[in-house]
Amino acid sequence: MVDISIKELDYESIPYNLLLLADDSKDAIEDYISRGRCYGAYINQNIVGIYVLLKTRSFTIEIVNIAVKKEYQNQGIGKKMVLDAINRAKLENFKVLEVGTGNCGICQLALYQKCGFRITHVDRDFFNKHYEEKIIENGIECVDMIRLSIDL
Ligand code: COA
Repeated sequence: MVDISIKELDYESIPYNLLLLADDSKDAIEDYISRGRCYGAYINQNIVGIYVLLKTRSFTIEIVNIAVKKEYQNQGIGKKMVLDAINRAKLENFKVLEVGTGNCGICQLALYQKCGFRITHVDRDFFNKHYEEKIIENGIECVDMIRLSIDL
């Protein structure tokens, strides 16, 4: 597995190109990065991954974006970032960490469940309602949001 270090990013140094890998909506990104906290995964001085945590309710926090640069995917960096988010949320006394992903996100569903998340419910037609462009991944149209959570 590759060695990475993870640190919080200043608002000014947030790499949008990475966030856009996980979310096509610039408006949504603008909204949650202004309210949440961004963490970058580095190999030496190069940023290779990012995730964003947003407090949504009392004691509940959510991973609202997570992405790894294409050429660094499938090397365990995503998993390290999810485990880092779990640890960080625990240390900050949150009780629940949530995440949502499209019904077509097979790798994402595998990743979250391998890190201990369980499916709570399905937000049906989420992508039909909130995204103008059709999203297709793994040959499956993305229409529903699968919601998962882990108790901390
Ligand atoms: N079946 C079973 N397991 C699978 C799988 C599949 N089809 N695809 C991936 N996995 C598993 C891997 O085996 C690994 O588990 P392991 O460590 O126990 O073997 C785990 O998922 C995560 O792999 P990892 O290498 O850490 O993932 P990554 O660094 O490529 O990061 C993403 C994952 C999703 C962040 C990355 O692919 C990405 O940036 N994608 C584009 C943006 C995106 O979709 N973000 C998420 C929005 S919800």
